[in-house]
Amino acid sequence: MNIDPKLAQKQAAAKAALSHIDDGIILGVGTGSTVNCLIELLPQVKIKGAVASSQVTEDKLRALGIEIFDLNQVGDLDLYIDGADEIDAAGNMIKGGGGALTREKIVAAASKQFICMVDESKIVQTLGKFPVAVEVLPQARSYAARQLVAMGGNPVYREGFVTDYGNVILDTYDLTITDAAAVEQRLNNIVGVVCNGVFAAQAAHIMLKASDAGVETVKFARL
Ligand code: 5RP
Repeated sequence: MNIDPKLAQKQAAAKAALSHIDDGIILGVGTGSTVNCLIELLPQVKIKGAVASSQVTEDKLRALGIEIFDLNQVGDLDLYIDGADEIDAAGNMIKGGGGALTREKIVAAASKQFICMVDESKIVQTLGKFPVAVEVLPQARSYAARQLVAMGGNPVYREGFVTDYGNVILDTYDLTITDAAAVEQRLNNIVGVVCNGVFAAQAAHIMLKASDAGVETVKFARL
């Protein structure tokens, strides 16, 4: 059987996240294998319900009997919990490996606090080894790809994948991300781009970093 060697760390980070969830809240829930570990544990806490960051997450939450709320009906959320593909020392992240970046960024933007759960393999000095997912309107795919090349990137069309919003993804390698906020904005400025996987404007407030030594809670300076 193929066992993810990082699974124990993901489970540990998810368990640590439980203590940050207050009774009665509507929780923003991210997407991915680390979040799946959290979802399994959610019956242990007394949340009112959840806003899901993807259809996959929504289906898993519903299967556990957790009520799903529409973000438009609930206003700002107190807490959003998600994983990341990379995170730097300031809490900037690359997300979108699972293709849910746009809905994730919307729910994160509407949340007062973002807790990011990671195993130690996700910690980087500088973002960018993991490709940046850029969600584009289908008609803009080729144009946006040329703009990404002009930025020094190497975009690869994610074949056979359509986002929850009916768009396509260009996984963009080799971007230089020394200033995450600037790169995030520049990507957003490309006509036809819906969203990108650099999370600097929606950086994490707290990181739960799991290693074999345990889970460390890192609070970023913005708090
Ligand atoms: C999905 C995401 C995930 O948070 C990210 O890909 C991390 O996933 P995992 O927990 O499976 O490593 O951004 O769009």
